[in-house]
Amino acid sequence: MITENIGKIFELPLQAMEHMVESFHIEMDRGLSGEKSSLKMIPTYAGMPTGEEKGIYMALDMGGTNFRVLQIELKGGRKTGRPSIMKFVLGKEEIAGTAEQFFDFIAESVKTFLKKQKHKAGGPCDLGFTFSFPIQQTSAARGILICWTKGFQTSGVVGKDVVGLLCQAFRRKGVEDINISALVNDTVGTLVAKSYADTACDVGVIIGTGTNACYPEELRKIKKLRGAKPRRGRMIINIEWGNFNKLASTHYDRQLDEESENSGQQILEKMVSGMYLGEIARLILHEAAIEGSLSCGLIPFLMKRKSFEAEHMSLIEGDKTGGLKLIGELLAKSGLRKFSVNDRRVIKKVCETVSRRAARISASCIAAIVTKIDPKLSRAHTIAIDGSLFERHPTFSTNMEAALKEILGRKASLVKLTLAKDGSGKGAAIIAAVAAKR
Ligand code: GLC
Repeated sequence: MITENIGKIFELPLQAMEHMVESFHIEMDRGLSGEKSSLKMIPTYAGMPTGEEKGIYMALDMGGTNFRVLQIELKGGRKTGRPSIMKFVLGKEEIAGTAEQFFDFIAESVKTFLKKQKHKAGGPCDLGFTFSFPIQQTSAARGILICWTKGFQTSGVVGKDVVGLLCQAFRRKGVEDINISALVNDTVGTLVAKSYADTACDVGVIIGTGTNACYPEELRKIKKLRGAKPRRGRMIINIEWGNFNKLASTHYDRQLDEESENSGQQILEKMVSGMYLGEIARLILHEAAIEGSLSCGLIPFLMKRKSFEAEHMSLIEGDKTGGLKLIGELLAKSGLRKFSVNDRRVIKKVCETVSRRAARISASCIAAIVTKIDPKLSRAHTIAIDGSLFERHPTFSTNMEAALKEILGRKASLVKLTLAKDGSGKGAAIIAAVAAKR
């Protein structure tokens, strides 16, 4: 019976996590040397800020269907003012449409923001553009989209410089006095924003719709930076860990991958991030219903692709009521009538199994990054983490902490996982400031 074996199938025992750490290190090194690797290890041309940056800066934070425009004052002494923020939502039309539609929408939103802000910078304002997709950066403010992730399919963007496309849209829409001085990944923004207040912070992670991480690497170790002689200093590397593929997969993972729009890519992301976790759970539950471990009335619902979302998992796993009342309410809301207490128990167990594996995979990657930076773990490391799954799932963070303890032993107490909410925009503004000074 699936319900009896599922724990075993999805188990990621200590040995498997240790193995993951090892292969993650190998893939990191390959990626840094420019060899074939599932980890792109993208040099971002961004360093860590000094904390003394001053002035008014803007950021455009675009990493999913919601995006934000913000302006913030950096005051020096690691202090910042309160940002002014406006949120916008990209429609299906822009996501599935052309590059021009997509970037025009963004430009219009910036225009709307500037009208409201009356452009406090009093002259050209530097802007950090957070664009959270795999970008091959060629300088601080230039980068080519390698491929879309997270279900985006806008045509005419892959292979193009996204800063160039945004500048053209600014021109078309009459957006003036903005200088895009940095192109930023959301993980990088999250790291930089957190490190402003906490200097022990050296890893930025996102575990939300998508998942990824970054860290500052010594320049001399980034061997693929052509023309660069061994130099001192560090540059932040966008790992793009979502594409890591040295993982044992189940037939559910393989089915999900085959049915996805980017089959063969983002294998880790498909086991970890909010965009896919619900679908893995649905595939298992569908099989359980077919074999008779769940009431057959659930089958039509479970047959529908993407009918089950990560947010539902958070709610289900958080249900501590006797008789699992909240799960019952959720099923009823989805139009289901006949289900038993056993169904609710099975659903909860499946969700727990899937999210626990995701948390353990994430923890293994973090252990790999921290031991890459500091092999003997001789100092404290703060890991800045943003994303809905880490923030809202009831046991994701505690499962991650437990896994870290298994991998790192007592030294795990040196690694602090902290929620760094909405840092990517603020971080982008700080990076814009650093880049503009250069
Ligand atoms: C996807 C993107 C990556 C981003 C992550 C989190 O994995 O490829 O660039 O950082 O989602 O938003």
